[in-house]
Amino acid sequence: MPITAPMHLPTLHGPRVLLRPMTPADAPALFALHADAQVMRYWSTPPWTDPQQAIERLQADAHAHALGLHLRLAIARREAPGALLGACTLFDLDAEQGRAEIGYALQPAAWGQGLMHEALTLLINHGFDDFGLRRIEADIDPRNTASGRVLQALGFQREGLLRERWRVGGELSDSALYGLLHRDWTNRHD
Ligand SMILES: CC(C)(COP(=O)(O)OP(=O)(O)OC[C@H]1O[C@@H](n2cnc3c(N)ncnc32)[C@H](O)[C@@H]1OP(=O)(O)O)[C@@H](O)C(=O)NCCC(=O)NCCS
Repeated sequence: MPITAPMHLPTLHGPRVLLRPMTPADAPALFALHADAQVMRYWSTPPWTDPQQAIERLQADAHAHALGLHLRLAIARREAPGALLGACTLFDLDAEQGRAEIGYALQPAAWGQGLMHEALTLLINHGFDDFGLRRIEADIDPRNTASGRVLQALGFQREGLLRERWRVGGELSDSALYGLLHRDWTNRHD
C-alpha cells in the first residue's frame, strides 16, 4: 500500500546540501548522472544512452509521486540549489508494512566529501518521521565499497547476501542486503 497519494514533495535542508523536487530543467544533469559509466558501475541497469531517458524518468516520477509509490529528490549544494549533483530515492514504499528501500547516486566530482551521508541523513529522517517507516532497506553490489561504507556509517546493518541476483549488460552480480530500523536510528542519535 502506498504511503500517501498524492505524495508531498519536500525540500530538506542539511548543513551543506539540500534535497528538492526535480523539475524538467534537471533533465540534462539527470541524464549526465545516469550516462556516466563510473556512476553506473554497480547499478542494476546499464548507463543511459539517450537524453530522452531522463525526460521519461521525470515523467514516470511525476506519475509515481501522484500515486505515492516513491519519493525521488534531487541533491544539490545549498549555495547552488539549481545544479543537480545527484539523486536519492525512497522506493517500494509500503505503508502497511512500514518499510521502503533506498537508492542514491552522486556525480563523481562530488564524491568523497561526505555529501551522500548528509543527503541520506535528510532522506532517512523524512522516511522515519514523516512517513512513519519502521525499516529502510538497501540492496547494493557487495563490490561497491563506497556505498557499503556510506550505509554502515549511517547505522545500516548488513543482513544477507543474495547470489547472482542481477544481470546487467551480461554481467552477473550479487546483492548485499542492508537494513536500518527506526530504533537503530533513534538510538544512534541519543
Ligand atoms: C556511493 C556514493 C553515493 C558515495 O557517496 P560519497 O558522497 O562519495 O560518500 P562519502 O564521501 O560519504 O564517502 C563514504 C565512504 O566511502 C569512502 N569512499 C569514497 N569513495 C570511495 C571509493 N571509490 N572506494 C572506496 N571507498 C570510497 C569514503 O572514504 C568514505 O569512507 P569513510 O566513511 O570510512 O570515511 C558515490 O560513490 C556514488 O554515487 N557512487 C555511484 C552510484 C552508486 O554506486 N550508488 C549506490 C548504488 S546502491
